[in-house]
Amino acid sequence: SSTREKLLAEYIAPTKIDDEKITIVGLGQVGIATAFSILSQNISNHIALVDLNENKLQGEVLDLKHGCLFMGNCHVEACTDYSGTANSKICIITAGLSIGKGETRLSLVQKNTDIFKKLLPELVKYSPNTMLLIVTNPVDVMTYVSWRISGLAQCKVIGTGTNLDTSRFRFLLSQKFGVATSSCHAYIIGEHGDSSVPVWSSVDIAGVRLRDINPYAGTDKDTENWSDIHKQVINSAYQIIKLKGDTSFAIGLSTAAIAKSMLKNPINFHAVSINAKGFHGIQDDVYLSLPCLLNANGLSKIIRERLDDGERLQLQKSAEILGKVQSSVHF
Ligand code: 2OP
Repeated sequence: SSTREKLLAEYIAPTKIDDEKITIVGLGQVGIATAFSILSQNISNHIALVDLNENKLQGEVLDLKHGCLFMGNCHVEACTDYSGTANSKICIITAGLSIGKGETRLSLVQKNTDIFKKLLPELVKYSPNTMLLIVTNPVDVMTYVSWRISGLAQCKVIGTGTNLDTSRFRFLLSQKFGVATSSCHAYIIGEHGDSSVPVWSSVDIAGVRLRDINPYAGTDKDTENWSDIHKQVINSAYQIIKLKGDTSFAIGLSTAAIAKSMLKNPINFHAVSINAKGFHGIQDDVYLSLPCLLNANGLSKIIRERLDDGERLQLQKSAEILGKVQSSVHF
């Protein structure tokens, strides 16, 4: 008998346990940051990584595996073809071009659609019951594209949307007040990008509404320029890209938090990109972010936010911009 058999007395033959497999497609900085966030927070017991660059893929997987002593005992796999992704509960897609200096997210749409046309049918073939979590920009339009191409139910196709913008917004609010980010309740909705909408009317700090103290916060009439915070949120990605070439850690953490909600149902709200038809006067199938609850079936509930008239108009404008880009896509 082998040394292993000499060491371990088999009591009962192993049975296959239902695992929480997450596939991540695309191992650029965002894919790696997402994998690292999932692993270091023990969100899943099985991740499969896919990238066209085989050396990079094997190298990243080895590097992650060598951290196993400091993380949960997650099974990390390198997949050189899509069969290795079979039976994923969630497929996270970060593959595609990312914004370079001077570009906007929306300018990437057709090139990334062409990439998605190849990879989505493969993913769905091996994981027909999967949920898709789209990160690739322009994330709202790419989520719509993924819904159209994949043939999956609408509730199973989610984009990371303004979950990150919301975190940036809360961080900046927390800095102004000198309190924890988790004590600042606030959402950014709409496009993940230039037409995003800060919901100033519902910002509250530990239960106190900002607008009750400063009725003009976020408007042109405000003398304290709170609206600069939203400008900073919009500018965040451009600023970081100028400084370090890409954004990675915050989007990786944001994506991992959404994946956790999809797998473990902690009933946290996330502003994620979903089909907003029927909400706030949006009449078409337009993908943009609203605060939602997620579970193992994907989208479970959308909160009926009490937007003020200005916010509703801004959201409709964001929907109009995204709708135009959606209809320019060639499938
Ligand atoms: C971000 O906002 C570029 O969409 C990416 O960090």
